[in-house]
Amino acid sequence: MSVALNDTNVGAMRAAAAGSAAAAGTRALRLDNVHAFYGKSHVLHGVTMEVRPGEIVSLLGRNGSGRSTTVKTIMGQVDGTGSVAWGGQELLGRKAYEIAHRGIGYVPENRDIFPKLTVHQNLMLGEKGRRKGAAPRWGFDDMYAMFPRLKERQHTEAGVLSGGEQQMLTLCRTLMGDPDLIMIDEPTEGLAPKIVELVAEYLKELKRRGVSVLLVEQKLAIALEISERCYVMGHGRIVFEGTPADLRANAYVRKEWLEV
Ligand SMILES: Nc1ncnc2c1ncn2[C@@H]1O[C@H](COP(=O)(O)OP(=O)(O)OP(=O)(O)O)[C@@H](O)[C@H]1O
Ligand SMILES: [Mg+2]
Repeated sequence: MSVALNDTNVGAMRAAAAGSAAAAGTRALRLDNVHAFYGKSHVLHGVTMEVRPGEIVSLLGRNGSGRSTTVKTIMGQVDGTGSVAWGGQELLGRKAYEIAHRGIGYVPENRDIFPKLTVHQNLMLGEKGRRKGAAPRWGFDDMYAMFPRLKERQHTEAGVLSGGEQQMLTLCRTLMGDPDLIMIDEPTEGLAPKIVELVAEYLKELKRRGVSVLLVEQKLAIALEISERCYVMGHGRIVFEGTPADLRANAYVRKEWLEV
């Protein structure tokens, strides 16, 4: 793929971060005994997990294990029972846009850009989700400093970007809403190894800016590299919780629930 991404971009982002006084988020996300349903189909069976302020947490599992359903339930896109609390406030039953306004960003797995709008217009739409009041951590300049390729293509229709560029655009659009927590569903799917490594760098940079990250992944390597803690799902349940070191040491969990 053709995105011109390199260490210089990460450096530019760090420099921008150093100059801003954006406060780290202080809210934790806590799921307690969450069950979720698609019509009569019962998909999540009592999920309990948390993302603490400033943490990178990975949610791992095989295809169909319920990872996307978990983030969609948090986001109000799938009906759930139990509790999803954000800074102590219940989110279940709220609409997706209300949840976004409370500071939770969601990058879905299907890279849903607006193909007929330009790169810049796509970013402007992200800004609309921004909470009122607080000084935002990010602006257009930050996004373009991070991803010069997006700057070059700012007047191009987003639909003609490569897969990797669309992934970057979706991430940037969500960041423009200035979330305290960002949930990213399989950002590295279909990307070349070098770009995967770059995505890892950017996620670490978000953390440095005080954004918590819930990363849904299948790739164990990136999760082990960047997470503070990992959860593994199987058949709609959490089957493992621990640090990357715990997961590395647990061959049984990896074989039973992760390796294909
Ligand atoms: N819209 C839907 N209607 C009915 N069942 C669904 C729907 N979306 C997902 N499912 C089912 O729910 C289960 C969990 O799916 P989910 O998308 O959460 O898995 P996942 O862990 O994200 O895996 P992957 O992304 O690889 O599919 C699967 O059995 C799937 O078939
Ligand atoms: Mg999924």
